[in-house]
Order: sequence, then structure tokens, then C-alpha cells
Amino acid sequence: MTENVLDTRSEDDDKPKKQIRLGIAGLGTVGCGLLAVLKKNGDLIANRSGCEFTIGAVTARDRQRKREVDISAYHWCDNPVDLADPDKVDVVVELIGGSDGPALALARAALGKGLSFVTANKAMIAHHGAELASLAERTGASLRFEAAVAGGIPIVKTIKEGLAANRIDRMHGILNGTGNYILTMMEETGESFENALAKAQALGYAEADPSFDIDGVDTAHKIAILTSLAFGTPPTMDDLPIEGIRNISDIDIAYAKDLGFRIKLLGISRLTKEGKLDQRVHASMVEASEALAKVSGASNAIEAHGDFVGPCMIEGLGAGAGPTASAVMADLIELARGNTGSTFSLPASKLAPLPLLESGERTGEFYVRLRVSDKTGVMADIASALRDEGVSVERLIQRTRASDDSVHLIMTTHKTSESRMACVLERFSDLSSVLEKPCMLRIEPI
Ligand code: HSE
Repeated sequence: MTENVLDTRSEDDDKPKKQIRLGIAGLGTVGCGLLAVLKKNGDLIANRSGCEFTIGAVTARDRQRKREVDISAYHWCDNPVDLADPDKVDVVVELIGGSDGPALALARAALGKGLSFVTANKAMIAHHGAELASLAERTGASLRFEAAVAGGIPIVKTIKEGLAANRIDRMHGILNGTGNYILTMMEETGESFENALAKAQALGYAEADPSFDIDGVDTAHKIAILTSLAFGTPPTMDDLPIEGIRNISDIDIAYAKDLGFRIKLLGISRLTKEGKLDQRVHASMVEASEALAKVSGASNAIEAHGDFVGPCMIEGLGAGAGPTASAVMADLIELARGNTGSTFSLPASKLAPLPLLESGERTGEFYVRLRVSDKTGVMADIASALRDEGVSVERLIQRTRASDDSVHLIMTTHKTSESRMACVLERFSDLSSVLEKPCMLRIEPI
């Protein structure tokens, strides 16, 4: 590929006058990815930012660990907090992870000293973003976190800047690469959940604790941050209903396909007409013809609806060294260009919570799968429960299992409330003919 000559010029006159010394905390997948970007694209980055990035100091859990990059020439700090040293460092880059502990201590120390802070740490921003934003604004530092949401996709910048003129009323998206990779492998190659997870870990997509990926916590961190950016609330994990994909079976993946759906782990955040916030994370049935349903592997995609822009979807790789380092570097380039401003879309003092939609109030369509004994009267019991709770069935299919004398009943419902659906599921569970816990998934209108 031919490189743009303007971006790779190297005459002395064009050499950047400004230098930014980075303090990098964390030299795992993303930290080494960042060093690789700087090494490979250093000239281009210098030309685009007008600034030369150097490494002022580094820290990591294990100095001796074998890495693809040589870190022996860099000043080493044993204690992450020591990176917050204005004599050595101009900007701290935190790639340690974890909502509290050393990452938070370093954020507080750096921002407290007026050092700008770039992080990929969604857990920390989701839990402590408002506090850190206030601190940054007080000391005149900048706090940036493009890499915290959806890896390489510039969704933070999109919401904060590109869509800043819009009232956004809904965002939904695939925000976890590991989860999407697992669901894709299960659907496309028949891979088991466990094998697909092991592959996602080997590829560097998964969190240190992969339960955050598969139980929806990582998606929740990200949607909490997007909610704050779009709706002007302080980011919070309180009252955010979270369900993951641990219980999604190959059976439901196959039935979803038969019904014209794909199962996706979605983060959803929307404002109701009454101004209530409906924020949630769960596996959802998405019409297979929708663009979001076709997002596969470790890709992420987010769709935001603005009152002037309309629906706006952005897709790309949501995990891994390259995409995440690309987002970290984008923040650093913006800092070098002097693009600072509020941490979220509003100054921290103006962030205000919204009233929440009670989860039982939410309405939608549902998919339910029951394993029942294949005997007389079962269908009548099921129908009674649906009739009594006022839930109307849209489609009902019975499939015989080859292995025993039970059958699967698969149904989709017309629109009803979560609370009615919960009552129906309780009634189903109480029936002696229902042989295992019913499986329920929400059909998400996109
Ligand atoms: N574990 C995350 C994912 C990494 O799989 O999406 C990016 O946040």
C-alpha cells in the first residue's frame, strides 16, 4: 500500500516541536499494542498530532514477563502511583484495569496533580467516572477513555462530538467482543461454549476475569458510560439489570435461527417518552435481517438514534491489542492537538441522574422455550397460564426430542409487560409437566 507522503514527511523543518512524555501503567495485551503503534506509526502520529510521544516511565505487574516489545530502556516504577510524577511524565496512560485498586489510586494521583489521564478502564469509569471527571476539571487535567467502550470503535467521540447537536433517545449495541465471538462460534461452527471462550481468551479478547464478559458485566460498564455521554447522567452501575450468556444453549441458538433471529448480547439504553431511563444488558433475539444481527466474531456495533441525525450505526473490532491501542492513541493525539473539554458531554457538575423505568414496566415481545412431558393436557395447562396472565402467543412450535419422551415447546409472544411475563414463567415452572426451568429471551426491536 502506498503511504500518504504528507503524513510521512521527515524533513527537519517538519519535526514536531512539542514532546509528550507518556507514563504507561500496564504492559499486557493493550500496553504492548500501544508501544507497537508508536513504533510502527510514530512518524505519521507525530505529523498528525504535531507532537512527539516518548516514554517517560512504565510500570506493570511483572517486569520480567516475556513480551513482544523490549521495555529494558524505559524508566521503570515498581509502584503504579509513582508514574504520577510531573518531572518524568506529562500524560499517564492506565491499562491495568479493575474498578478500584492500583488503577484508581493512579487516576486520583495523576489527575490530582493536574496530569492528563488516558485509560481503557471501563470498570473504573463506570464506577468512579463522575468523581474522576470532577477532579480533572478542578485541576485542569483531561480525562479520556475512548478505548473503554467498544475497543477500536470511536463511539465516545461520536456521541460526545459528532452527535452533540442531537437529543439521543436510544442506543443499543454489541459491546463485548468475547461474548459476540462465543455466540458466533456456537452458531456458525457448532463450537461448544467452553471451547469458544478458551479461543477468545487465547486471542486476547477476554477480561482478566472472563466472567465479566460472559455474565454481561463488561457490557454493563460500557453501556453505563454511553448512557452518561448521551443522557447527561453520572455513570453508575446501580439499578442496571444485567444478564449474560452463560445459559444460552445451542438448542436456543438453533431455534432462534429457525424463527429468523440471531441471539446477541446487547447493552441497551433508552429514554421513554415520559423521560425515564431504561438501561439493561441481556441476551436478545434480533431479527436476522438486521445489520446488528450480522455483526460477527469479536466485532462490536452500536446504533444511536438522534432526533436530527436519525439512526447512526458504527461497527468495528471491539477487543484485542490493535483496536484498543488504536483508540488509546487517538485520545493521546487529541490531547496533543489541545482538544480537551468536559470529560463527559457535560461538565461534571451538570451531570444529573434520571428517574428509572421499573423493569416490570417495560413492554416487549418474548421468546420462551419449555421442555415438557409429551402427554395429554400439557398444552391446556400452558394455555391456561397464558390466558390467566393475559399474555398472547404469536407463534407456537412443538419439536420432539429424539433422546427421551419429552418435547420442546417454543413460543413467541405478542407485546406484553416484563411483569406479566414473569408471572407466566412462574406459572410454567410450577407445572409438573414442565421438566426444566423455562428459557426466556427478549425479542429486541432494533
Ligand atoms: N473483554 C472485552 C471484550 C475487551 O471482549 O469486548 C474490550 O473491552
